[in-house]
Amino acid sequence: MTALKDGIQVSSRGTTLQVTALRDDVIRVRASHDGPLPEDASWAVLSAARETSIPVTPEPDGFQTKALLVAVSPDLRVTVSDLAGNVIQQDAAPIAWQGHAFTIAKQDHIDSHFFGLGDKTGPLDRAGEAFTLWNTDAFGWQESTDPLYKAIPWFIEDRDGRAFGMLLDNTFRTFFDFGRKDPHRYTVSAADGPVDYYLVYGPDPKHVVETYAWLTGPTPLPPLWTLGFQQSRYSYYPESRVREIAHHLRADHIPADAIYLDIDYQDHYRPFTVDRQRFPHFEQMISDLTKEHFHTVLIVDLHIANYPGHNYYPYDSGIAGDHFVKNPDGTVYTGAVWPGPAVFPDFTQQSTRKWFGTLYKNFVDDGIAGFWDDMNEPSIFNVATKTMPDDIVHRIDEPGFKPRTATHLEIHNVFGMENSRATHDGLLTLRPNERPFVLTRASYAGGQRYAATWTGDNSSTWNHLRLCIPQIVNLGLSGFGMTGADVGGFAGTPQTDLLTKWIEVAAFQPIDRDHTAVGTGDQEPWVGGPAAETIRRRFIEERYRLMPYLYTTAEEMSRTGLPINRPLFLEFPHATEDGHPLDLDAPSEFLVGSDLLVAPPPYFDELDKYVLALPSGPWYDYWTGQPVDSSKHILIQPELAKLPVYIRGGSIIPIAPLTQSTDERPVGPLTLRVYPGPSCHGDIYQDDGHTFNYLKGEFFRQHFTCERSGTGQIKVHLDAPEGTFKPWWSEIRIEAYGLPKLISKTILASAGAADITLN
Ligand code: GLC
Repeated sequence: MTALKDGIQVSSRGTTLQVTALRDDVIRVRASHDGPLPEDASWAVLSAARETSIPVTPEPDGFQTKALLVAVSPDLRVTVSDLAGNVIQQDAAPIAWQGHAFTIAKQDHIDSHFFGLGDKTGPLDRAGEAFTLWNTDAFGWQESTDPLYKAIPWFIEDRDGRAFGMLLDNTFRTFFDFGRKDPHRYTVSAADGPVDYYLVYGPDPKHVVETYAWLTGPTPLPPLWTLGFQQSRYSYYPESRVREIAHHLRADHIPADAIYLDIDYQDHYRPFTVDRQRFPHFEQMISDLTKEHFHTVLIVDLHIANYPGHNYYPYDSGIAGDHFVKNPDGTVYTGAVWPGPAVFPDFTQQSTRKWFGTLYKNFVDDGIAGFWDDMNEPSIFNVATKTMPDDIVHRIDEPGFKPRTATHLEIHNVFGMENSRATHDGLLTLRPNERPFVLTRASYAGGQRYAATWTGDNSSTWNHLRLCIPQIVNLGLSGFGMTGADVGGFAGTPQTDLLTKWIEVAAFQPIDRDHTAVGTGDQEPWVGGPAAETIRRRFIEERYRLMPYLYTTAEEMSRTGLPINRPLFLEFPHATEDGHPLDLDAPSEFLVGSDLLVAPPPYFDELDKYVLALPSGPWYDYWTGQPVDSSKHILIQPELAKLPVYIRGGSIIPIAPLTQSTDERPVGPLTLRVYPGPSCHGDIYQDDGHTFNYLKGEFFRQHFTCERSGTGQIKVHLDAPEGTFKPWWSEIRIEAYGLPKLISKTILASAGAADITLN
């Protein structure tokens, strides 16, 4: 055993194992068999994090940090414990090598619960399940479909209220078995590539999520409009239909911020082109939509039509710059996708990403607000594997990696992420002071730095509405905080009540985008008649009223990595006596930020009453403001027009007057809804909603606290605001709940810091 400044290195029977500490609570394990340690490089982990290290205290069989004890047995099994001696993670066997493949086995426990792993479907807790990570175009996926679109090899284990996380930073096909094959061990394996993993210690699950953001970067602050309602379908055309949809949304007073153009706006599905027959006044249409406060998002798939000799610039310039991936014999690889034969940018090369980024120039000049990177698993038609052959040659040109070629087996799982990175970085170059909005379907760990994501081609069924809740929550625990599912479902046509309920739930999810497949029935909020539309409008309106809270939560996410939708155990890790995550008793509940709890029925198509499980403490009904006694067993009768939502006692929620888009300046006061309870506080964050000027101090942040005095008065304190940005309100209306009747007071915002007493 060799002691290193920051860990140890040991060799036995051909295996070399290095265990080092990046921080007191972050351990990295690298190993190799019959050779040197793997390349110290990563697509996922930020180099700043990877290069961090701390000195450790040597121990006879390992080392100690200020939080963890690492011991390695003579046969190279690693045990990580906390300083009180609780074993956090322990190898059940030495690493098993099978040619290029390997398996890491860890001891599993009956009370271990597993979360994360990206968009995988099924229950929130992944215990007892097994998954393959291999990015796949999984059209019409169902509850048992695996693999799906994304490969996020990161999970959180929570046992007895102690949480830690593990990232296997390996881009090859990987496998995670959480005790399905053997209940006494969970295994993490790969078909090839490095043993290179990071262990992140909590014990608080929130700390694990925040530390994962330290490793791989948080989800950046999104443009404000992306939190608005978004309308899409495959596809709106011609031009008159797009205008009609926009007009209908405004005429019916359904607040909305974005319209999507899917592949049919293009000339023969060739990316970066416009079908001038369907869209003769494309530029004018975009500019008119912008005037109506609609942001237009274009799908731009990564495949470039193989269309030589026709002045198709993406193809010609890509060939001239040698930007496409190759067959082993050096010829350019061609695969069939929407445009027919297509070629594929080699996104693992910096120069190719840069070139690809320039292709957006015309669309950006036209005022397109966001871009949608689809099919980037990559999806290839008419082949059994649905993707490129394994032996396709990619070139790697990336700091940290040796410049070298790599087969598709190594690059497949990062291909989509690097596509979205090219788009994101290209937009930043073209519009340096605008926050890019990119929506990607495929990604890898760390991909949240470049793009938001959605859950792909779901179905218009009640079961899929149920499934999108744990998917979005697990994506959030996997770094992706800006996510959504196709509202109403993609494959199929939702029945009226299903679309209504879906719009209700999605009003509380990070991305609220109504989208459906080609050939399905209409799925806009008015479809199904005025009664349904009225309910749907009410929920979309509520989202807009909550926009200050949503945006404040998004800003927190961009600093800390805490997602917008959260599982209950993230905020209430000690809610149950034996430390199991409360979510297991309340499988459909989720939080928006730290204070708002949405409690749909566990099965949407069941009409029976269901039990509401709330963390103990005071709660209030969001809709009525009435206190809820969480110590009692509460039964809820599902109703079409209602979605139970609760507010944590001890919170202050900022609310805006209704607008029809986030561009519109709200008229009236900012309302602070005060819900008394323990350590009562709240925040508001505002800025211009689209530039990076906030990084130069042009933001507005205000912190509030409240307390209930012995005589029943509610005292609210407003801290002095920070930042130079001037928000839209000139008055603040403070509403206090929890008193015999609602009491409110309105003050001038210019007062800055203020103390208000309500009784
Ligand atoms: C894929 C996408 C879907 C899109 C369609 C056409 O199926 O997942 O959202 O509408 O392609 O572009």
